[in-house]
Amino acid sequence: MAVKSNIFPRAKSGIPGFDELVDGGFHKGTVNTITGSSGTGKTVFASQFISYGIKNGEKGMIITPSESAEYLRREMMSSFGWDFSQLEKEGMLSIVDVTDPVLRLQKSIDVDPVEFLINFRKLVERKLSEVKPSRLFIDDLTAFFMAVEAPFKVRSLTDDLFGCIRTSGVTTVITLGTAFATNQFLEYGADSATMLMREKIGNTLIRSIFIMKMRGSKIANSIRVLDISDEGMAVSSLSPYP
Ligand SMILES: Nc1ncnc2c1ncn2[C@@H]1O[C@H](COP(=O)(O)OP(=O)(O)OP(=O)(O)O)[C@@H](O)[C@H]1O
Ligand SMILES: [Mg+2]
Repeated sequence: MAVKSNIFPRAKSGIPGFDELVDGGFHKGTVNTITGSSGTGKTVFASQFISYGIKNGEKGMIITPSESAEYLRREMMSSFGWDFSQLEKEGMLSIVDVTDPVLRLQKSIDVDPVEFLINFRKLVERKLSEVKPSRLFIDDLTAFFMAVEAPFKVRSLTDDLFGCIRTSGVTTVITLGTAFATNQFLEYGADSATMLMREKIGNTLIRSIFIMKMRGSKIANSIRVLDISDEGMAVSSLSPYP
């Protein structure tokens, strides 16, 4: 039987060298996780995915539960000269700041985490139907899931959130930190999972990347060097190991 790898249309990631690892890019309308410890480049990856879409006329949305929106705008401007404020003015980008009191979704130790996540899912649903973006980036959700005690609840909350994202048809990148170990539940529910790392080779730290899974697609089974420069992020054809 012939393999039909073109059944799902692909969304190019915008990260040079990445799409080759996953046979052409993310499947459109899917949920894709990018996991890594602090400083490995998760936010850069996802911001570049959004910027690339906008350059090609695709509206983007960023939901920031962990960093404030203002911080993200400044960070991307000073690192790569990506002017998110301008893109917002042009109507191509919406940044939803979960810490915005107007949304009444306060992160507080007094709020039940399950209730918070249900409200968060409703917020995502509402914003997606208002703005209708082609690409969505949700920055680091793991801390919220950490506070949910029962693993089966984490599973069903993940399924609810990912289900509503898939229904809307938006292609999504969700970044996951590794500090709270809930990343595994979210990776399990996602359509693809990518890992960013730092390798210690002799005296040097080298950034690296590999694909853990992509449902319905071939993936490259090799670890690659990941570069970040003023131009943004790129996957090298080299392995970090000699
Ligand atoms: N112009 C640049 N050239 C080279 N490296 C850069 C440049 N701009 C930023 N960086 C590096 O990229 C990294 C930023 O990565 P990023 O913020 O995406 O990490 P993260 O995985 O989201 O971390 P956290 O978990 O803390 O949010 C930093 O280590 C920073 O030094
Ligand atoms: Mg980050």
